[in-house]
Amino acid sequence: MAEMMSPKLSVNVNKIATIRNARGGNNPNVLQVALDCERFGAQGITVHPRPDERHIRFTDVHDLSTNIATEFNIEGYPSEDFLQLIEKVKPHQVTLVPDPPHVLTSNAGWDTVTHQEFLTQTIARIKQTGARVSIFLDPNPALIASAKATGTDRIELYTEAYASQFNKDPATAIAPYVAAANAALEVGLGINAGHDLDLHNLAYLAQNLPGLQEVSIGHALVCDALYHGLQNTIQLYLRALKIH
Ligand code: PXP
Repeated sequence: MAEMMSPKLSVNVNKIATIRNARGGNNPNVLQVALDCERFGAQGITVHPRPDERHIRFTDVHDLSTNIATEFNIEGYPSEDFLQLIEKVKPHQVTLVPDPPHVLTSNAGWDTVTHQEFLTQTIARIKQTGARVSIFLDPNPALIASAKATGTDRIELYTEAYASQFNKDPATAIAPYVAAANAALEVGLGINAGHDLDLHNLAYLAQNLPGLQEVSIGHALVCDALYHGLQNTIQLYLRALKIH
């Protein structure tokens, strides 16, 4: 029972594509790595295709969608191209991120007050595909009511600030996240989290963030796999997520 409530691990395989693209061939094979992540216990696979296809390509997204058995989560900025991809692929979950095309990685959540109308229309369109929708959000309780009004099912809390403050003081680092999560739970939103999560800061988040359902982790997990191997690394992340 307790195990059933542990947050799910969705492995972001973008970094695998970055390594593959460095040499132009198909090594490592993104699909094979994703299938192995599932085989080793990951409960989901995440990709973040960007318009320049510098890591995950649109063809990878199609390949993954027809072959993986766990939850497929596609993140990205809802450009017309992205929305058409979603309509073709019909993933289980779509996570909307407000990142402009050339940023290195996502660096902020949505301003759900300013962009409420845009998000509402976008989310209604995505929901016609049957996907669950999540929106990337800074841990600010003031954004929760307008997030709820967009029609999203979940929020993904942007954990960069948590991760960067964790070593100094975990309780202070998590406090705004707990406030945002409680506000989200009160209005019936589900809660995901992601960005800069690793084997040092993950267990504390899993134990202390109310209602956490899923984390998506890429960079640190792939770095850890260099030392521990992919199978051990996934086991270590699953162990960190176990709610006691
Ligand atoms: N969530 C979102 C919205 C992201 O953009 C990313 C990075 O692509 C992640 C989670 C995963 O972050 P990390 O690679 O630091 O684990």
